[in-house]
Amino acid sequence: MTISPTAPEVTTAPLLSAQGLYVTFPGRHGGPRARAVDGVDLDIRPGEIVALVGESGCGKTTLARCLLGLVEPTAGRVAFDGRPLDYSGRSLKAYRKRVQLVLQDPSGSLNPRHTVYDAVAEGLRIHGYGGDERTAVAEALARAGLRPPERFFLRYPHELSGGQRQRVVIAGALVLEPELLVADEPVASLDASVRGEILALLLRLRTDLGLSALVVTHDLGLAWNIADRVAVMYLGRIVETGAVEQVLTAPRHPYTQALLSVLPEAPGTPVVLTGEPPDPSRVPSGCRFHARCQILSSGEAETAGVADACRNQDLKILDGSATSQVACHWATASSPRGAGNCATSHNPPADGPQAN
Ligand SMILES: Nc1ncnc2c1ncn2[C@@H]1O[C@H](COP(=O)(O)OP(=O)(O)O)[C@@H](O)[C@H]1O
Ligand code: SF4
Ligand SMILES: [Mg+2]
Repeated sequence: MTISPTAPEVTTAPLLSAQGLYVTFPGRHGGPRARAVDGVDLDIRPGEIVALVGESGCGKTTLARCLLGLVEPTAGRVAFDGRPLDYSGRSLKAYRKRVQLVLQDPSGSLNPRHTVYDAVAEGLRIHGYGGDERTAVAEALARAGLRPPERFFLRYPHELSGGQRQRVVIAGALVLEPELLVADEPVASLDASVRGEILALLLRLRTDLGLSALVVTHDLGLAWNIADRVAVMYLGRIVETGAVEQVLTAPRHPYTQALLSVLPEAPGTPVVLTGEPPDPSRVPSGCRFHARCQILSSGEAETAGVADACRNQDLKILDGSATSQVACHWATASSPRGAGNCATSHNPPADGPQAN
């Protein structure tokens, strides 16, 4: 596990802060709306790398897009550097210079007809950069590990390896000197052999440039290698968050425990989740994980006296600032770590999330 000594103190004011965020989409065939992001609070502090983990379809990409201002929340707010996002065109353009997106598939992010130079310079041109473009492009490529940068200027994406293409995408983000990178499954499409290199690059950028990052991944194992803090998402909600070593060595939410149990290096028997795969247009009442929860089905929740609450009381994490926070009646009852880990929560106000 790689934990950087430069991980920021939890007391530092957040760089990016999401509060009570909801994003809904129209339901299929006129059915109920899909609650893709369903009451999320999340802070990212300066210089911090946060891993957002959870199964496919749990709302990670929608949350990331919302944090980037690419999707306007149905309710709640996103604040950057203490200021709420302003969704007017000019403000958003300025914001997107400070917060850059790195996507999963570098082939899809790069125009096959653009040279590496043009791909990296594009952001500078969009933002009307007034400095020396050639120097800025060269510096960004070098920071992304493509050296000597001039050797790559006239290459086309098809002439590069997958890892080099992802480095070009990262250089295109770095050239604008952002404060935060949002990387959506940044290594999912790469060979195992180059994944480590790209993750090491992200860590180096934090150390060298003080960059913060939100790394979205369905792979909890990846979080071990890169993050200071982990936020585990289930069906639109963050159900556990905390320092990476806390959450991954002593997971408290049954969902986190199940995800960890199926990692190849995990001890013991893997937890096989039963029940229907989650559907954001049909969020269960009570704890949203209850129909699949191994603690409820095994009777442990009954023994702890929380089974009724599991079935009937929705809950969310109150405050993400402590070392470990969980939205689970059983976890709170069986190992209360400080007051106020979670709170029963209510659906958004009737006049809140409607259209998107
Ligand atoms: N534009 C959209 N319109 C309708 N539903 C969407 C849209 N984008 C995402 N969804 C739905 O929202 C849920 C969360 O999707 P997503 O954020 O992509 O999850 P993840 O990144 O965790 O796989 C999924 O059920 C998905 O089908
Ligand atoms: S609240 Fe109950 S059902 Fe939900 S995860 Fe915890 S034990 Fe399982
Ligand atoms: Mg996704």
